[in-house]
Amino acid sequence: IWNAYQVMVTFNLSRSASFFESGVGRGMGFRDSNQDLLGFVQMAPARARERLLDLAATQLENGGAYHQYQPLTKRGNDAVGSGFNDDPLWLVLAATAYLKETGDWSILSEPVVYENRPGTEQPLAEHLQRSMQYTLDRLGPHGLPLIGRADWNDCLNLNCFSETPGESFQTTENRGEGKIAESVFIAGQFVLAAKEMAGIAEQAAGGKPHPATSDLQPAAYYMQLAQQMEAAVRAHGWDGAWFLRAYDAFGGKVGSAECDEGRIFIEPQGMCVMAGIGLEDGLAEQALASVQGHLATEHGVVLLQPAYTHYRVHLGEITSYPPGYKENASIFCHTNPWIMIGEAMLGHGEEALNTYHRICPSVRAAISDVHRCEPYVYAQTIAGKDAPTHGEAKNSWLTGTAAWNYAAITQWILGIRASHDGLRVAPAIPASWSGFTASRLFRGVTYHIDVRRAGPGNRVALTVDGQPVAGDVVPLPRAGVGEVRVAVEVGR
Ligand code: BGC
Ligand code: NOJ
Repeated sequence: IWNAYQVMVTFNLSRSASFFESGVGRGMGFRDSNQDLLGFVQMAPARARERLLDLAATQLENGGAYHQYQPLTKRGNDAVGSGFNDDPLWLVLAATAYLKETGDWSILSEPVVYENRPGTEQPLAEHLQRSMQYTLDRLGPHGLPLIGRADWNDCLNLNCFSETPGESFQTTENRGEGKIAESVFIAGQFVLAAKEMAGIAEQAAGGKPHPATSDLQPAAYYMQLAQQMEAAVRAHGWDGAWFLRAYDAFGGKVGSAECDEGRIFIEPQGMCVMAGIGLEDGLAEQALASVQGHLATEHGVVLLQPAYTHYRVHLGEITSYPPGYKENASIFCHTNPWIMIGEAMLGHGEEALNTYHRICPSVRAAISDVHRCEPYVYAQTIAGKDAPTHGEAKNSWLTGTAAWNYAAITQWILGIRASHDGLRVAPAIPASWSGFTASRLFRGVTYHIDVRRAGPGNRVALTVDGQPVAGDVVPLPRAGVGEVRVAVEVGR
């Protein structure tokens, strides 16, 4: 209940009105609000629809995005501007989550303006296509996406070179043209988004035709984009035992075994595995083993290791924080569910749950003298192992942790997730669990789900209203059916 409540609160406020952030000045983050939607869409799909259209209306014609917009005027924030190159891709991921949840294909043909300018209306499908194109128009020397001002990690400022103490890294103009520094995180995100675009295009081709889908390319086109980017990641974004984080503005590696500090970062491990890179040939397995080996602590998984000990002008704000805090090697809770999802995708239910327990507020209530934060709400960070206050949480409430943890727990560990074709039930629960029951409202139908463990492993056998069903997706029931009973045997 509290997780869902926190998801609702972050969806409503984004980071715009916060005691911990920057008062009311900051507005709604484009990437933040899109991610908040990932945990919210099943609660109030109509509000999620409205939010998606609001976000898309602030998009720029070149596919880029204002980093933030003001909730009252719904306009992009000029002071911060755009150029955070991960931003547009989050719109694709959020729109996909909405489509899978609702099956409401009409949203793709909604006319939506660019930059709130009347007369620029294009169907939402075209906005999604331009989000993809934005990345393609900004590839660096290794064929990986240029990072721009920053990617998910707002504090990895590879083109900023700020020498003025106190200057805001977020609003400072970048130096140079930014044509060298590349992000492996965005590369993974692009692979994931391209696969989702392919899924949408495939549905459109396969009988859910909607006029707007003509603004999409065929599925094969997006699959090819995914393959090309994956090839670039494999060639230039794999460091030997984990995914590299980035190339800096001089083409130097960030997040590599070659570095003296900041050798391994959590974000590309989570994102590349979620994108499905290396699931088959052991890369994903190895990347997550490196995360567990180098980044996991008893209080959660830290963002990077070793922490930066002094300011580095070519890396930016991240190196301005003391070791173990914020983006400089704290347990930045938002990223931990990415590892949970990755572990679940690899079938490691035990590791997924274990990773969750370390940051779960109610589990941490037992050590509240260390945790020092509300025992029912996620915090943005927990001090990492390099900090004197290791284990102490900070900045509770408005954090993407809420939505991502909700998704990781319900969709990946419990395995109940929306797909275009129906509700999927594919749990990755620990071997010791005998099962669980859940009820899930999906497209107006209540699914009563009863999961029983029949043996080791994660193979599922579904019985839907008494009939065996192949695979792990419960087919959509005929119109008029209000309830469906799903019995699931795991490990048979
Ligand atoms: C957030 C940080 C973010 C920073 C950017 C802060 O308010 O909490 O996580 O990276 O703003 O300067
Ligand atoms: C908080 C910001 O709101 C979010 O957009 C960003 O991804 C994280 N900090 C990490 O820097």
